[in-house]
Amino acid sequence: MAESEKTSRRGWLASVLMGAGLVASYGVFAFQGFLFLLPKRTQAKTRNIFAGRVSQFAVGGVKGFSDLEGNEILVRRKSEGEFEAFSSTCPHLGCKVHWQEEEQQYFCPCHRGVFDSDGNAVSGPPADGGQRLASIPIEVDEAAGVVYIQVKDPGRRSA
Ligand code: FES
Repeated sequence: MAESEKTSRRGWLASVLMGAGLVASYGVFAFQGFLFLLPKRTQAKTRNIFAGRVSQFAVGGVKGFSDLEGNEILVRRKSEGEFEAFSSTCPHLGCKVHWQEEEQQYFCPCHRGVFDSDGNAVSGPPADGGQRLASIPIEVDEAAGVVYIQVKDPGRRSA
């Protein structure tokens, strides 16, 4: 076999391999570009956390809990079978509100914001801004007599 023929075969083989590598790298690049254009799957999952037995809540009373991120949630038993929960974070500038049993209202000490028992601002800067406390979903398993708070699960994302 002539030397020039060997060189020609090597050259052809090198061209084929380089072409295949080029096609593969463009394919990976195009696939990554396609993934970049897809919307991210960032919707947070939720989880029910145990808040207590129904019998542990006094009618009209409020108990505080922490969600999985350490944010305080205030759970109030409105009546025998009715519960509601609010974030304790004031919607004005983020201070912590607390329940005032005698007045049956939530109070924010930072700027004297007052919220009624349903979380609606009734005086202070939050009322001026038409704000309200953020509601937290709550679930009562009446058969088992257990109250759950539905919170974001920071460790899980939907698929
Ligand atoms: S932060 Fe609550 S009233 Fe201003």
